[in-house]
Amino acid sequence: MMETVLMEKFVQVDGVSKAYGDNIVLEGVNLRMTQGELCTVVGPSGCGKSTLLRLILGQEQPTAGTVKVHGKEVGEPSPERGIVFQRYSLFPHLTVLGNIMAGSRLSLGLIESRRCKKTIEQEALQYLDYVNLSEHARKYPHELSGGMQQRVAIAQALIKKPKILLMDEPFGALDPGTREAMQVLILDLWKRHGMTIFFVTHDLEEAVYLGTRILVLSQYYQGADLDRPLNSWGARIVADYPLRRVAASTRVKETASFGHLIGEIRREGFDPEYLQAIEDFNLQHPDSVL
Ligand SMILES: Nc1ncnc2c1ncn2[C@@H]1O[C@H](COP(=O)(O)OP(=O)(O)OP(=O)(O)O)[C@@H](O)[C@H]1O
Ligand SMILES: [Mg+2]
Repeated sequence: MMETVLMEKFVQVDGVSKAYGDNIVLEGVNLRMTQGELCTVVGPSGCGKSTLLRLILGQEQPTAGTVKVHGKEVGEPSPERGIVFQRYSLFPHLTVLGNIMAGSRLSLGLIESRRCKKTIEQEALQYLDYVNLSEHARKYPHELSGGMQQRVAIAQALIKKPKILLMDEPFGALDPGTREAMQVLILDLWKRHGMTIFFVTHDLEEAVYLGTRILVLSQYYQGADLDRPLNSWGARIVADYPLRRVAASTRVKETASFGHLIGEIRREGFDPEYLQAIEDFNLQHPDSVL
């Protein structure tokens, strides 16, 4: 029993602060994620969502505190941690298939990837099928729609078989219909591959629909340091909800409880007038730590 309490989580962010010069972006952030979680992250623009994601990726180092993934302190980006950005620059001179194969090659190294060209191609075709792009294997990125390009980017990240997939507003540039189709696709891939996903989005509806857990990151709270001006705090996780996935149907977005939760999140994280004391944060998730 004692052992489970002490055991480190798959993602372990402890007492992390991040400042750029005088600008304190994150402050005292603690996060424990279990393998297989689909954790969505929302918060006001500029509150530090992308910064937190980059800290987990290893692209940034914390000013204080530690970030560990799978028991190891995150040093620099590694194939263990895959990333999909809002606009992913695919290699323009490579076909869709070539782009996905490139994803696999980068993680294998040159010599091994030459040796296994046929196997890699087979595998790339398989991932193309996962993202429903089989008929477009020979096309070039400029011949694809935004949604299709984003699906190539997802396949390119998945083929490296990352232990965790980090997504920074991956569907932000897509129209609503395409966006919803991508949400359904990502849920399907997540289930099929048992992935761990950290998913940043502006869209509260998307966050509540997709997540098994939603984190609300915000600088709007009442810090204890009276010497500092109001609202000068680095963002913290001010709310953390477990979400129960009842049905994959997008119809759930129309239910009253769905709308109610969104209203709650908007108040807790996005209202500069609503300043909770740190000890009153709504940390409902069992793995939450203040
Ligand atoms: N490399 C950097 N150098 C200096 N300041 C930075 C750097 N990266 C981010 N910041 C600052 O950190 C703060 C948080 O930025 P970040 O991009 O993490 O916010 P965000 O929550 O992702 O915002 P958005 O919702 O607009 O994407 C901003 O004030 C930004 O100006
Ligand atoms: Mg961002």
